[in-house]
Amino acid sequence: MSKLIIDGGVPLLGEIRVQGAKNSVLPILAATVIAGDKCVLHNCPRLRDVDKTDLVLERLGCTVERHGNTVIVDPDGFCSCEICDDLMRAMRSSIIFLGAIITRCGEARVSMPGGCPIGLRPIDLHLKALKELGVSIHEEHGYIICRAKKLKGTDIHLDFPSVGATENIMLASVCAEGTTTILNAAREPEIADLAAFLNAMGARITGAGSSFVTIRGVKKLSGAEYTIMPDRIVAATYLAAAAATDGEIFLTGADPSSMGAMLHVLREMGARINVSSGTIHLKSRGRLKNIHILRTMPYPGFPTDIQSPFMAMSATAEGTVVYVENIFENRFRHVDELVRMGADIKVEGRSAVVSGVKTLYGTRLVARELRGGAALVVAALGAEGTSEISGVEYIDRGYEEIEKSLADCNACIRRVQ
Ligand code: EPZ
Repeated sequence: MSKLIIDGGVPLLGEIRVQGAKNSVLPILAATVIAGDKCVLHNCPRLRDVDKTDLVLERLGCTVERHGNTVIVDPDGFCSCEICDDLMRAMRSSIIFLGAIITRCGEARVSMPGGCPIGLRPIDLHLKALKELGVSIHEEHGYIICRAKKLKGTDIHLDFPSVGATENIMLASVCAEGTTTILNAAREPEIADLAAFLNAMGARITGAGSSFVTIRGVKKLSGAEYTIMPDRIVAATYLAAAAATDGEIFLTGADPSSMGAMLHVLREMGARINVSSGTIHLKSRGRLKNIHILRTMPYPGFPTDIQSPFMAMSATAEGTVVYVENIFENRFRHVDELVRMGADIKVEGRSAVVSGVKTLYGTRLVARELRGGAALVVAALGAEGTSEISGVEYIDRGYEEIEKSLADCNACIRRVQ
């Protein structure tokens, strides 16, 4: 297991090229099983979660080749409709293969995805929608068995704008008979990226990225070449790190149009931000000021995935802010670690009251999940003294070579085995 050693207190200063979006490339890789031919995906980040998804594709019989940040998937050898327990436990977001496998072969057998450190992660909305599309589903010995003689388009209303459920509905209806509409669809930009990829394969999807999506079933899909959108959460994490260290950073290959809520918070807290197509420039203007309250919401609201990295930034900003986590029930696991560094944070149910302190102090820290781990990196960069962060495998799930990107911006950070 590797660790990150960070000598804090050094202002970030430099440029980072933003990686491709993890939460876009995962459903897009799942969608390649429906392709009638090879798919070539550019700007694919090198992440543990992408490696695991590649493994699922190979277990399903597809071939996967990686050349730098380009991944080529050939689904021709597709021969299995099962995702077994070890893979599902390794990455619960493999549930996104469900709709694609059913479209490809009319059945699917996947192990029940368990919860994860941030919450129970139920899939009731996924299964309810698939049943409305004509899928028969039963659970047996911890597996979900799905069968669909024919997928028939229908009107689906989501009780909650679930990202994964929206994606599974799109993947299950793209070749269904007739038209499917999704009311109260998730509006995250990654949904629009998946739809753009499917349309490049010959699908007929309109409205993706809005709360009303229409999918007109087509007979079959071809292969496609596609470039994955930039990762808005990784981009905002690096902006938070620059702001928390009183630094200055240029992000290239970014998509500021998908980051409105996060850029707004950074500006309100006192950072100076200029954007142009593809680049974001942040310059800190001294100690940040906390804003009164931050509520995580479905897109275009303040994203739950940036809650912990931004809380790390708030820990040393002036004043008090209340973070309200409305999306997941257990997403404050980073708080104990920040308190060990000297942060003043009190958790009450879904709220965390952060009172900014002047300085955090480096110490031994443990990452327990992806974004909470990134939050510890942000805190350690701004802290006085040295921090040693274990559990880096969690951070590697979503951040490509985090220590290299930060070291390129003056940070004193290194990975040790
Ligand atoms: C996606 O997870 C992302 N993961 C998450 O990013 C992100 O936090 C989340 O969307 C919200 O934006 C990927 O895209 C791989 P949801 P997903 O379904 O699809 C409840 C990261 O750090 N719900 O929108 O699982 C659920 O419990 C990860 O990159 C049901 O109740 O999110 C949660 O409270 C973490 N029933 C809420 O909806 C369901 O059937 C949001 O879940 C499905 C979801």
